Amino acid sequence: MYRKSDKPLITAQAINERLESLAKDIAAFGCDIVITVLSGGFLFSADISKRIASPKLQLAFIRASSYGNGTESSGNLKITGLENIDIRGKKVLVIDDILDTGNTMFGIKKALSGMGAEEIRTCVLLDKPARRTADITADFVGFEIENKFVVGYGLDYAGDYRTYPEIWTMEESDG
Ligand code: IMP
Ligand code: MG
Repeated sequence: MYRKSDKPLITAQAINERLESLAKDIAAFGCDIVITVLSGGFLFSADISKRIASPKLQLAFIRASSYGNGTESSGNLKITGLENIDIRGKKVLVIDDILDTGNTMFGIKKALSGMGAEEIRTCVLLDKPARRTADITADFVGFEIENKFVVGYGLDYAGDYRTYPEIWTMEESDG
C-alpha cells in the first residue's frame, strides 16, 4: 500500500520558477517540433510550449508503454503515434515526465533516429539518476530527485494524482 506524503516534494511555485529558465534554454535550442509523451508529459509540455510561444513551433503526441509490474517499466517498449509525425529536416524536442530507468526515452530516441530529423533532443521534468539502467541522459532536466516514487503534475500512481499542480512522494503504509 502506498499513500501520498503530507508535504509536496516540489511546490507549484518551485515548478513555475524552474519552467521559466528551462523554457529559455529550450527556446535557445530553437526546436521546430515538440513531441510529447502521453500521458505523463502533458502538463509539463503544455507549460513549456506556451512559454516558448514561437509561431512555427509544432506539437505532436505519442504514447509509450512497456509491460512492467506497475511501478517499473520493462525493456519491452511499445510506441504508438509515430506514423503520423513528419520530422524530416526538423529540430525535435521529446518531452516526457520523468527519466527513471531510461528505457522509455532510450527506445523513443532509437525509434525517431531513423526518421530523418536534423537533431533530436530530450527534456524531462524529473530525473532519477539512481535508477538508470539504459545508456541515456536528458538534454534538458527540470529537477533531479532521489530514488522515490512520485506523483502529480502529470505523473500518476495507477492513474491517480495526475492533476495535482505539485510533485508529491508516495510513501509505503500499512493499510
Ligand atoms: P523509464 O522507462 O523507467 O525511464 O520510465 C519512464 C516512465 O515510467 C515514465 O514516463 C513514467 O510514466 C513512469 N515512471 C517512472 N518513475 C515514476 C514515478 O516516480 N512516478 C510516476 N511514474 C513514473
Ligand atoms: Mg509515462
